[in-house]
Amino acid sequence: GSARPRLTFLGTGYLGATYAICFAELGYEVVGYDVDADKISRLAAGEVPFHEPGLPELLRRNLAAGRLRFTTDMGTVAEHGDVHFICVGTPQQADGLGADLTYVEQSVTDLARELRRKALIVGKSTVPVGTAEWVEQLVSRNADPALDVEVAWSPEFLQEGFAVEDVLRPNRIVVGVKSDWANAMLYAAHKGVFDLAATEDREVPVVVTDFATAELVKVAANAFLATKISFINAMAEVCEVAGGDVTQLARAIGYDPRIGNRFLQAGVGFGGGCLPKDIRAFQARAGELGAGEALRFLHEVDLINLRRRTRVLQLAAELLDRRVGPAGPDLFNTRIAVLGATFKPNSDDVRDAPALAVAAMLAKAGAEVHVYDPQGTDNARAVQPELAYAKSVNEAVERADLVCVLTEWADFRNADPAALGELVAARRVIDGRNCLDPALWTQAGWKYRGMGRP
Ligand code: UDX
Repeated sequence: GSARPRLTFLGTGYLGATYAICFAELGYEVVGYDVDADKISRLAAGEVPFHEPGLPELLRRNLAAGRLRFTTDMGTVAEHGDVHFICVGTPQQADGLGADLTYVEQSVTDLARELRRKALIVGKSTVPVGTAEWVEQLVSRNADPALDVEVAWSPEFLQEGFAVEDVLRPNRIVVGVKSDWANAMLYAAHKGVFDLAATEDREVPVVVTDFATAELVKVAANAFLATKISFINAMAEVCEVAGGDVTQLARAIGYDPRIGNRFLQAGVGFGGGCLPKDIRAFQARAGELGAGEALRFLHEVDLINLRRRTRVLQLAAELLDRRVGPAGPDLFNTRIAVLGATFKPNSDDVRDAPALAVAAMLAKAGAEVHVYDPQGTDNARAVQPELAYAKSVNEAVERADLVCVLTEWADFRNADPAALGELVAARRVIDGRNCLDPALWTQAGWKYRGMGRP
């Protein structure tokens, strides 16, 4: 029939909450579920517990329209849904590089036990290849066999800051399915996305494939993006010793459409809740499967990325005329302003953020560090409580011997170097994201150091 299936999203973290809200916006009747009662009551009250442009408005509109509900009760979820999307977290294991599947196991098991009619369970979380088969076994062990509950896999590719667009207007949809019924259900569950595209004269490419491929697409895409960033950061390392400028190099190679100019920004490296953990989990899984050698380069990608953080410390020592001992630079009796704490601008996310990691490294080397971030201070304080947090750029840079720009917020890019120069003890700046204009800062009397620039 043409009726739209009713949807549920299990796990209302970044992924699940965004999907639940956006699919309600597309006209589906949606239930969002989480074990965290606090998260659920905030969402039900119209509050998005993280920073994502556009999402709060959509949440309130769809709550008011009655298309969107939130619950901690799995019975309600089972009763509502024709298609259940598993969106729970798959963090890095506490004692290893692989992914921790506890939340997947728990949510799928609990749901399977509550189901009273045929339904489709669709995995969305980023998982090691092979998880979909295991989920299918979990379902067959825990659901009534007479219901014939089916499983599918459909990875997501959303970027923080663009999550609403990425869900409403995805550049592709990937589905791993085993039956025509599952394929048809997933088509119906995405009909709203296809309809929206049609009204805008676009088409959304769909890749229908097997479980393993669907699972691999996600980690392969992230591995490629991480590799692209580490490639340009490796070129930055070479530029540093050869006297080249990686920003011009990136621009020049990026004009080749086979290479492309995106994700070629050299700097202090990638962070966030996805790329670092996903490339580690991917290596670990490939090793288990006997293909460890194929992904050995990802270890190198990780190392290049982490070396960029050490590079900022080296530059700090160089600019401050400090010795670098075997344990790293000695930065005692220096005052350093760190501008940026989040892993990228327009986000409040500090997970695996290079900026915050470097701030901690500078403090460990003895510097008095003052951090300012437009959105990330609360989250940063929770992770690194011993650092000092300023309420403004001006407060952070006051009497600083060195300013480090480590996240490319517009506020920092547009800062006036002459005005800031009046506040600092000495005009020294490290541009960890190559986001400042070296000529402008140099003219204002600053000693400027970028990443991979002469
Ligand atoms: C990423 C993927 O882009 C997304 O498709 C996937 O679903 C989840 O992981 P996200 O974590 O939101 O999304 O961040 P992204 O914008 O990709 O940036 C990742 C990190 O790479 C940031 O720390 C960013 O500063 C860094 N980066 C990005 C660079 O250092 N250079 C670049 O050229 C691009």
